[in-house]
Amino acid sequence: MTGTNYPSAKDRITLVRGDITKLAVDAIVNAANNSLLGGGGVDGAIHAAAGPGLLEECRAVGGCPTGEARITGGYNLPAKHVIHTVGPVWNGGGANEDALLASCYRNSMEAAAGRGLRTIAFPSISTGVYRFPKERAAKIAVRQILDSLDAHPGIENVTFVSFSDGDHGIYKSELRSLC
Ligand code: AR6
Repeated sequence: MTGTNYPSAKDRITLVRGDITKLAVDAIVNAANNSLLGGGGVDGAIHAAAGPGLLEECRAVGGCPTGEARITGGYNLPAKHVIHTVGPVWNGGGANEDALLASCYRNSMEAAAGRGLRTIAFPSISTGVYRFPKERAAKIAVRQILDSLDAHPGIENVTFVSFSDGDHGIYKSELRSLC
């Protein structure tokens, strides 16, 4: 019998604890704000590592609504591209935060697939300055990425990058419980 064996979505997810700016993937995702003009947290780290060319390109893009994504070059980063997405600010859960966070992951994956990118790394969007509860965010992230991997067979691997051991543990147990 012949045929192509596509790896299941779960086998295309990698968990890493570390600094997303060090990853040599096709695209890293930035947890940006609506201006796309930089900030603190992972956004600040990505702009610092990429250099001023990134800010210049972001200025030309002209902002991004919450839940959407925009793609730029990676400049001095080892990653070839940066996908900027704007997560929701946590406001108690009644302001469409869950759906907006899922949109960030879905639209980032669509942007990557649209460019033919194969390897993408995500930080834990909205769980820092924007205060989205971490377990709830990880559940949304993992479920949406599994769906998006099914929808985009050309994407070979998604890495979830956690900046702390605690966050890494949350992703590990989330993935274990779902698959
Ligand atoms: N690599 C991977 N993850 C990181 C890194 C890094 N180098 N640095 C921080 N994190 P945050 P948000 C984690 O606050 O909540 C900015 O000012 C961090 O531990 O960066 O979406 C923007 O301009 C946390 O788990 O993003 C916006 O104004 C996660 O990244 C606002 O913050 C997200 O934390 C966005 O807030």
